[in-house]
Amino acid sequence: MKLIVLNGSPKAGKSITLQHINYFKKEHNQHEIEVIEISKKIKKIENNPDLFNEIVEKMSNSDAVLWSFPVYYALIPSQMKRFIELLFERCPENTFKNKYTTSFTTSINFFDHTAHNYMQGVCEDLGFSFIKSYSAHMDDFFKKDKRKAMIAFFNWFIQMVENKIPVERKYNIQLPQPIIYEPDKIKPVEKKSEKKVVLLTDARPEDTNLLQMIKTFEASSSMPVNTKNIRDIDMKNGCLGCCNCGYDNTCIQKDGYKKFYNDNVTNADVIIMAGSIKDHYLSAVWKKFLDRSFFNGHAPVLQGKQLGFMISGPLSQIQNLRESFEAIADNWHMKTFGLITDEHKTSQDITDHILAFEKQLTLLQENEVEFAPSFYRVGGQKIFRDFIYTTRAVFKADHLFYKKHGHYKDFPQKKIKKRVNDHIFSFFMGIKPVRKKIHNKFIPGMVAPYKKVLKQL
Ligand SMILES: Cc1cc2nc3c(=O)[nH]c(=O)nc-3n(C[C@H](O)[C@H](O)[C@H](O)COP(=O)(O)O)c2cc1C
Repeated sequence: MKLIVLNGSPKAGKSITLQHINYFKKEHNQHEIEVIEISKKIKKIENNPDLFNEIVEKMSNSDAVLWSFPVYYALIPSQMKRFIELLFERCPENTFKNKYTTSFTTSINFFDHTAHNYMQGVCEDLGFSFIKSYSAHMDDFFKKDKRKAMIAFFNWFIQMVENKIPVERKYNIQLPQPIIYEPDKIKPVEKKSEKKVVLLTDARPEDTNLLQMIKTFEASSSMPVNTKNIRDIDMKNGCLGCCNCGYDNTCIQKDGYKKFYNDNVTNADVIIMAGSIKDHYLSAVWKKFLDRSFFNGHAPVLQGKQLGFMISGPLSQIQNLRESFEAIADNWHMKTFGLITDEHKTSQDITDHILAFEKQLTLLQENEVEFAPSFYRVGGQKIFRDFIYTTRAVFKADHLFYKKHGHYKDFPQKKIKKRVNDHIFSFFMGIKPVRKKIHNKFIPGMVAPYKKVLKQL
């Protein structure tokens, strides 16, 4: 069997994920498995049509394609995202029709599912038959039982392909005809507020709906809006995954990104991300922008700022994208205040929603509303806390931040008094007649402390 592996890690041969593929190769030396560097060579691939066509030909002549990549910000690395955009832009329909494919990733299991969902969605749109993918933790490789599970997955994948077992399609977005947003002229509102809004967009001249939405928002906002096009930032590459920034938040790439970020994003009170849907996400440029913010490490440097999204395209049909937006915002400890799209019937509807979006933002600011953290932040914080605690030699800047801000204080094993109480409680609960007696009082007992506080208020 001929298998093409597309390596999406910008670290190429030094990729952790790729070592797993090398393991599969070792165990399956009867198959022809070729690895193609996608992320490392993305500029060459984009600029050299012969190279691009050669890769596509190899993919089409194979029995199956395997996408091997690290999870980057709940998705794939920006370089690989660009490659996928090129496939949509340049390949005729049916190029990959019914070709089997799957994904294999490594990560710390933070929003790995949204990355896998994304890959399944785009692959299905490209015509592939997507076989359920595998998400390994980056430490799994050192555990015998986990390696056994990985190889079992690979064996199963090969057999699925060899036996041509049909697979169900998971996503099938029906794209409605978008309306052209032609708003009536809006009288600009006087900018009285001292709060700073930065509106980041990747809009190109052809993104007319998005550009008009931005104009309407700028005019209707009571806060001064600093609109910046992220395409103008001097960004040499996407994130290289080198982790040099871990020590002191200094990015190894000497370009204009960090200065732009610190001058415009870190300084703002409100951040609005504005973009048009491209495949099942925003553009690779947006992804590059997000990946490069990794120089901040795992510290929530945008904590307390408000974050809104202005999207042109069928967002309501891409729940996975919504979820990854919400996860990122919650994990950056930001106050998300809303999301608007151009998925409306008339231009007036869109304008009304933008005005409402602006009003909602103002009211949230006035009332100092901060929604409680959800599973995204609570779960994410625990994953990051454990990860940074055990990798502090490299992620030193994060470690110092977590220490200073008490992130390690909620390790359950550090709560000695609670642990002693739990042991005593557990001992008594082990005695059947006592347990019966306690359990009868369990529910009223649980609510009693709430009632006590309520009485005092
Ligand atoms: C820019 C960047 C973003 C990342 N985002 C995530 C993430 O969202 N979720 C996660 O679990 N791991 C994340 N990671 C960790 C990588 O997925 C993980 O280290 C992976 O094993 C690296 O694989 P590689 O060596 O093949 O590139 C991120 C790493 C980098 C550098």
